[in-house]
Amino acid sequence: MNILLLGSGGREHALAWKIKQSKHCNQLFIAPGNPGTATIGENIAIDLLDFKAIADCCREKDIHMVVVGPEDPLVQGIYDYLTADVSLADLIVVGPSAEAAQLEGSKAYAKAFMERHGIPTAAYKEFTKDNFEEGKQYIQQHGLPIVLKADGLAAGKGVVIAHSHEEALTAFEEMILEAKFGQASAKVVIEQFLKGVELSVFALTDGHDYVLLPEAKDYKRIGEGDKGLNTGGMGAVSPVPFAQGEFMDKVVEKVVKPTIAGLRSEKLTYHGFVFFGLINVEGEPFVIEYNCRMGDPETEVVMPRLSTDLVELFISMSQHTLGTQSVTFHENAAATVVLVSGGYPEAFEKGKVIRGLGASFSDFTLIFHAGVKQSGEQLLTNGGRVLAVTSYGNDISSAVERSIAAIQHIQYDRKYFRSDIGYEFRS
Ligand code: AMP
Ligand code: GLY
Repeated sequence: MNILLLGSGGREHALAWKIKQSKHCNQLFIAPGNPGTATIGENIAIDLLDFKAIADCCREKDIHMVVVGPEDPLVQGIYDYLTADVSLADLIVVGPSAEAAQLEGSKAYAKAFMERHGIPTAAYKEFTKDNFEEGKQYIQQHGLPIVLKADGLAAGKGVVIAHSHEEALTAFEEMILEAKFGQASAKVVIEQFLKGVELSVFALTDGHDYVLLPEAKDYKRIGEGDKGLNTGGMGAVSPVPFAQGEFMDKVVEKVVKPTIAGLRSEKLTYHGFVFFGLINVEGEPFVIEYNCRMGDPETEVVMPRLSTDLVELFISMSQHTLGTQSVTFHENAAATVVLVSGGYPEAFEKGKVIRGLGASFSDFTLIFHAGVKQSGEQLLTNGGRVLAVTSYGNDISSAVERSIAAIQHIQYDRKYFRSDIGYEFRS
């Protein structure tokens, strides 16, 4: 079948790499894609929120499956738009309905969902300008640190972890009174701080059954030793050594199964990935967030570790046979180290010439483009996150070391990366 993948980052390059290996994939189109995806399939210049253009493209290119990479089109209803189009009756859309995508699109919606289904998460309360004064009192009585979250999508920037009551009050005022994140912060969730190690668990579901993909851990802070500002993700590793045995059983029994059962009992239409952002608090899993898509840069290690044909899983999802599917993973570890633009996640310059991508890299290394632009013969930096360099290894240490060795061949002005990805698990 012909497949259309939506998105343009490292996640989509990794998805394209995996999808193209499927025996079910004939032509692969990526909209809008990047220079990396252009080496795998055909890029098409369409805006991700132009649903009509996407539907037209499906008709024109005889597309039978649309895989949605990022959250924005999902939260804005691309699933509902495409599945309502009678001329696209056989189309398989990988992603939840707009209603179910609220699990990512609204923190308050996700918290209420978890409360209804007894899923472990931090205690919380939600506030708007209507109960603003109550919110201020709540903050003053709250133990430290205090976690404040803009309710809506804020490109990963809507979370503040305040270490004093003054800082929390300032952030609260900025979000609600000054609309720091626009409409996304008209409502704010204030929650208890959880201390532990985070991990990302991924399921593919049809809203009834599910399969689990390899888990991963991402490294969000800009600085080594997890210091400094939050970014979109500086690297990731898979497997996560503590995600096994009793702990993983708890993740399945206390988080994954109740979530899928909740989708079912609430009749939410969900045909896609569920990303469980978890934290391990002394052996107990808690949900920090749901996302309605794969993670970035987690996908850059999850796809390389997945042996099962991904398109076959999508077909199985559409036929409601996921319950009988087995998923196999490569035994090897995978690690990805993200190369970013100097200055990121604050102001940075784009348009720097990238050299060295033609080097002969190890067979165990994959280079995924994140923020890269083609300009004539040259590749230029085009974002904060520029490339994700993934390697396989016998263990996490050797995978990370291989990526770092590959990175030495790649040059651009003010290149920066973290050399300590996976540090907790390295020997
Ligand atoms: P989110 O945008 O929800 O992924 O939050 C961004 C980051 O903030 C998470 O990856 C965590 O590191 C941190 N965080 C969010 N909620 C909490 C919490 N309740 N306790 C501790 N850390 C949190
Ligand atoms: N790596 C975290 C995310 O994709 O949201």
